[in-house]
This record gives sequence, structure tokens and C-alpha cells, in this order.
Amino acid sequence: MTALLRVDDDFVRDPFPRFDELRAQGPVHVLRTRDGARYWLVVGSEEIRSGLRDTRLSKDPDLLAAARVRQRCEHGVVDGPAAEAALRELTSFLRSFTYEVREVVKETLSGRHAARHAPRVAAIADELLDGLAAVSGPVDLVASYSMPFATRVSGSLLGVAPDELAEFGARVSAWLGSDSAEARATARRRVSALLDELIAARCGREADDVVSALVGKAGTAGRESLVRACLIFVMITVETVVSFLATAVHALLSHPEQLRLLRDEPERTGAAIDELLRFTGPHNVSAQRCATEDLELGGQHIAEGDLVVFALGAANHDAATYPDPHRLDLDRDATGHLAFGAGRHYCPGTHQARSALATGIAALLRRYPGLRLAVPAGEVSWVPSELLRSVRALPVHLAGG
Ligand code: HEM
Repeated sequence: MTALLRVDDDFVRDPFPRFDELRAQGPVHVLRTRDGARYWLVVGSEEIRSGLRDTRLSKDPDLLAAARVRQRCEHGVVDGPAAEAALRELTSFLRSFTYEVREVVKETLSGRHAARHAPRVAAIADELLDGLAAVSGPVDLVASYSMPFATRVSGSLLGVAPDELAEFGARVSAWLGSDSAEARATARRRVSALLDELIAARCGREADDVVSALVGKAGTAGRESLVRACLIFVMITVETVVSFLATAVHALLSHPEQLRLLRDEPERTGAAIDELLRFTGPHNVSAQRCATEDLELGGQHIAEGDLVVFALGAANHDAATYPDPHRLDLDRDATGHLAFGAGRHYCPGTHQARSALATGIAALLRRYPGLRLAVPAGEVSWVPSELLRSVRALPVHLAGG
């Protein structure tokens, strides 16, 4: 039996009961997104784990684009030049993401690199937290900490000099944080200009950063495609880190006994990140896949060309794997969670993500031990997305340091 997943306010705030309901009815259902796309939504843990490793479910950008066009034709949507241009742009974005950026992250951002980079991340966190010391009323932790932290860490990984990180971060926030398409386009051009300068400065020089690695790999690729790869790197690092840092802090502030554990024993932070990722990871569902041939998944026939997404959050909240799954429990062994995906597209940024997030959260709790929510937990406003789990704003009292 297949059911249709509806994305409403309740789902956005807490998708896990809805995943439970769907899982009880069967492992594979239909998800129709607000932009009209139709996916097979896999919610059964076994099917998610095997499907993520199934090479017949591909992330090939051209296959994905062709599937989207086919769906639109089936619904009688005739794409005009603007929609076709948008699809071409999306396809080249996905191509760069899936090939160039992934390879560079895999090769450059190792565990050793994360350890070398950790002092710079700690300095970024401390500088931002010091800057908040004079604030007396409530602050929005997204705007004042998780966004500038994520943008500056991303810039630092790219190779932006420490004294230019604040400007870089401000431009990226204006780009990714704006609701207006026009403002976003202008801000994106301002970020691209900085990246272009960074690339020019790196050409012919070796350094231990992402821009140098991209330049080293570029071969005959032009400056424009290098800038695009850098923009993609910024998007994926910033969106995930901003979302997760804020939702993880929201989860901790809503579970005072778990927060106390972490404050009393900060050496737990590294392991706590995995339980927090299991409990409230930033991706409700994986990136989309396209079936390269007819296949069966969880008793459901998937036709060649169909689109499939995996509900990572459903696997992470399955009682068969994690007893009492909707409880945040920092004593739990959460290894094996799927917040970073699985198989050949397993997130290659895990070393950086774990290290930066542990540093960012530990520094916040150390500097402001009285940190608390400034509104009831249920009143926090969530971003209405079926894909990413993130709060719009997180009003908190810092309560001295
Ligand atoms: C909380 C932080 C993060 C989480 C939870 C996360 C999660 C994920 C997931 C689930 C995927 C797989 C998507 C799929 O194929 O279905 C992915 C892919 C990817 N992630 Fe992350 N990510 C995080 C941070 C980062 C960071 C900091 C970087 C870079 C330094 C990064 C780089 C990438 C890249 C390049 C891919 C594409 C892999 C591919 O398509 O083969 N991620 N990430």
C-alpha cells in the first residue's frame, strides 16, 4: 500500500511521528513536493540502507534532469525558456556537486586536515561569542552565531584569510539568508567576486585549502566553473552546518537533563554529536536518485526513470534499531545512524562537519553556561521544507558568561 506524504506545519516541526505512521503501512510511499515533483519515498530502514547502496539508483545529473522534464510533460506543463534555463543551471550545479566538489572534499578534507584546522574553527567560535557578551536581551542564535560561524568556517576551509572572514561571511549570509530572489542574485555576485579573487591568488601556488585543490584539479576548466564549484562548496557546508547547529542547540535546550550532562562533561561533545545527528539531523530525506532500470524495492515496483528519495530521518527514528527512538539520549550508542547517508555518496565532509560542530557547540555552552530558550520550545518557527530540517530563528537568553 502506498500513502501520500503531506508536508504541513506539524511535519516540518516534527516529521518523525509521520514517518512512523507511514512505516507502519509499508516501506515505500509517494512524496509530492510543493513544486510538483513526484518521488518514491522510502521509509523502511532495511530498504533505505540497501537502496542507498543500490547502484541502479543513480545520482547522475542528466538522468535526474530528464526525469524531471518527463514528469512535467506528463502533467501537461510546457516549460518556457526560463524553466529550461533553470533546469540547465540545476543540472550543471548537480554535475559540479556530484563530481568535482565531492572529489576535492574527499581528497583534501581528511581527518588529519580537520585536526589541523580545528584551532582556526575554535578561534572563529570564540571571536563570535565574545562579540555577543555585551548583549543584554534575547538574541537570535541563528543570525548571531550559527550563520556567521558556518559562513566563516566555510570560508576558512576554502582558504579565505582570517582577517577577511568577517566580510566573506557577511556576503555569504546576505546571499543564502535572503528571501528575495533579486537580493540573492546581487549578493551571490558579490560572493563570486571574492571567490574569483581568491582563485586568482591561488593559481600557481600550493596551499592546504579547498580553493587550491579545486584549482589544482581544474585542468582546462575556466574560471567561471571554478567559481561555481566554490559556490556549491559554500552552499553545502553552510546550509548543513547552520541548520544542524541551531536545531541541535534547540534539542539540547528542550532536554535540560541532557544539556546538563554535556555542560558537566564537555568531553562527551564528540560522541554527543552523533546522537544529535540521529535525533535531529539536517536532512529529512536524501538527495534524489533516478532508477536506471525497472527494480523492486520493499515490494514496490520502481520503473526505470522514476525518482526516489530515502527518509534518512525515518531510519534514524526506527524503534527496531534505536529503542525509544524519539528520546534524545546522549548515553546511547548512535553509531550507524544515516544522517550522513550511506554507500558511494556517503557524505565526504564528515570529519570537518563533526569537528566543527563539536567545537561550535562546546564553545557556546562553555562561554554561556546559563544559555536558555527565550520562547517556549513549541513556539520556535521552523523552515517549511520537506527536505531540510532547520529553524528560521532561535531566540535565546545568553545569561552571562
Ligand atoms: C551536519 C553536517 C552535514 C551533514 C548531516 C551532511 C550530510 C550529507 C548527506 C546525507 C549526504 C548524502 C546525500 C545523498 O547522496 O543522498 C551528503 C553529501 C555530501 N556532503 Fe555532506 N553533510 C554535512 C556537512 C558537510 C560538509 C561540512 C561538507 C564539506 C566539507 C559536506 C560535503 C558533502 C558532499 C561534497 C556531498 C556529496 C557526496 C556525493 O554526492 O557523492 N557535507 N552530506
